[in-house]
Amino acid sequence: MNVGIIGSGDVAKALSSGFLQHGHQVMLGTREAAKLADWSKENPKGQIGSFAAAAKFGELVVLAVKGSVAVAALRLAEASNLAGKTVIDTSNPIDDAAPSNGVLKYFTSLDDSLLERLQREFAAAHFVKAFNSVGSACMVNPKFKGGQPTMFICGNDDAAKKTVSGILDQFGWETADMGKAEAARAIEPLCMLWCIPGFLRNDWKHAFKLLS
Ligand SMILES: NC(=O)c1ccc[n+]([C@@H]2O[C@H](COP(=O)([O-])OP(=O)(O)OC[C@H]3O[C@@H](n4cnc5c(N)ncnc54)[C@H](OP(=O)(O)O)[C@@H]3O)[C@@H](O)[C@H]2O)c1
Repeated sequence: MNVGIIGSGDVAKALSSGFLQHGHQVMLGTREAAKLADWSKENPKGQIGSFAAAAKFGELVVLAVKGSVAVAALRLAEASNLAGKTVIDTSNPIDDAAPSNGVLKYFTSLDDSLLERLQREFAAAHFVKAFNSVGSACMVNPKFKGGQPTMFICGNDDAAKKTVSGILDQFGWETADMGKAEAARAIEPLCMLWCIPGFLRNDWKHAFKLLS
């Protein structure tokens, strides 16, 4: 698959390596290509473009930017380049205010989520929340003593969720589909929980697992 990634940070780089490793074609999108010179040398098969070029390139699109600029980044990517496509939303609505005793502050409430805001503005795209509740170092081929971790996903379009679940299988995850877009109100705060041991004890190596 051609995968267009909107973003150039740790998540964009980690997922792009995963997609390349699993045989997909990747274009990373950034407003400043020069910052990806090292990435380009390390990933000669990967391409670099603007946000719009990456979105246009992708049959599958990944959003991997700071939550507070997610709408702005997707506007630069252009709605017409996202229409009808699956968009994996890795972002979290983290506020700029400092964490309180290790607990991040969000700019959304529990009756709203970033994914729903994006879905409302870019109505023709099929957003699926995924990869938001684990650190970038563990996103691809995760290895934990406790076994295969679970990725919680949600979104309104079943076909898009099937595509994302296929990618998660390739990347070594078990998928738990939590339903429609509103479920992002519960999935996005998992990042707050995931970060607490990191902020309090510098422990960043863990993931969630759903037991039944
Ligand atoms: N880091 C992790 O381990 C992790 C894990 C799970 C989820 N997440 C979530 O994943 C998302 C990406 O995280 P990250 O750490 O990889 O990167 P990040 O530092 O949060 O974001 C970097 C990206 O934001 C873009 N950006 C910054 N300001 C912008 C603006 N004003 N307009 C448009 N784009 C702008 C940058 O674009 P340019 O390339 O043009 O500079 C860059 O591509 C975040 O929402 C984060 O909460 C992160």
